[in-house]
Amino acid sequence: MIKKLFSFWQKEDGVKDADRLMQAIDRERLPKHIAIIMDGNGRWAQRRGMPRPYGHKAGVESLRDIVKVCNQLKIPVLTVYAFSTENWKRPREEVNALMDLLVQYVYQEIDDLDQNKVQVRAIGRIHKLPEKCRRAVAFARERTADNDGLIFNLALNYGGRSELVDATRAIAKKVLAQQISVENIDEQLISSHLYTAGLPDPDLLIRPSGDFRISNFLIWQLAYTEFWLTDVMWPDFRREDLLRAICDYQNRERRFGGLKRGNNKR
Ligand code: IPE
Ligand code: IPE
Ligand code: MG
Repeated sequence: MIKKLFSFWQKEDGVKDADRLMQAIDRERLPKHIAIIMDGNGRWAQRRGMPRPYGHKAGVESLRDIVKVCNQLKIPVLTVYAFSTENWKRPREEVNALMDLLVQYVYQEIDDLDQNKVQVRAIGRIHKLPEKCRRAVAFARERTADNDGLIFNLALNYGGRSELVDATRAIAKKVLAQQISVENIDEQLISSHLYTAGLPDPDLLIRPSGDFRISNFLIWQLAYTEFWLTDVMWPDFRREDLLRAICDYQNRERRFGGLKRGNNKR
C-alpha cells in the first residue's frame, strides 16, 4: 500500500520524476539529434471546448521546456516540426494564428535563446512564408548564428518530399553546369543538398498525440532513426516525457541492418 502510494506520488510529481530520469540518463550515449513532430494541439484544445489555436498557444510552453532541457543536456541538434507543406490546407484563421504565433514566439524567446547560446535555424520553404515570418526567422538566425549551444531547427513550411525535390533540382543544375557528373551522385551528395546538410541524421524521433505516421517529416533522414510514440498531447508534453524517451532510446539496440553486437561470428 505504502509502495503504491509512493509510486503514485512519484508519477504525479513531475519534478521528482524528471530528477530521477535525469540521473538515469547515460550522458555518454545521448542522441546527437532529436526530431519532434509537435502534434495534438488541436485535439487538446477541442477537448477543453476551446478553439484549435488555443492548443497551439499552449504548445509553445512545451517547446520552451524541451528546448531548455535539450540545451542543458548538451544535445547537439533539436528539430521540431512546426508547420508542414500540407498544413496550408487548414482554415485560413488557423493558418494565420499559427503564423502569428511563430512571430510572437521568436520575438518573445530570442533573448533567452541567445543568452543560452542556442543557435536558431529554420528548414523548409521559408521563402514561401508570409513576410513577417520570414523577417522573424532571419532575425533569429542572424542574432544567434555565432552561438555554439544547441542547434535548434524550426521546420516551417517543411515537407520531406519538397525537400527532395529541391535537392534534386539543385543537383540537376550542377550536372547541367558540368560542376558534377552523374557518377558523383551518391547518398552523401544527396544528404549534402538537403536542408539539413551538415547535420547528423536524427537518432530519435518523438511523436506525441497517438498517431503512428511521419506525415512527410524528414523522410530521407529518418531511415534508421529510433521512433518513440506517446499518447500525451504536445501541450502536455514536458521534460519528463522527453527524458523518458531518451532513457528508452538508450535501452535499444540499433543494428543498422547488421547483426546484434557480439553476433558477428559465422
Ligand atoms: C500540431 O497540432 C500543430 C500543427 C500541425 C501546426 P495539430 O494542429 O495537428 O493538432 P491535432 O493533431 O489536430 O490535434
Ligand atoms: C504533422 O502533423 C505536422 C506538424 C506537427 C507540424 P499533422 O497534424 O499535420 O499531420 P497529419 O495530418 O495528422 O498526418
Ligand atoms: Mg495533427
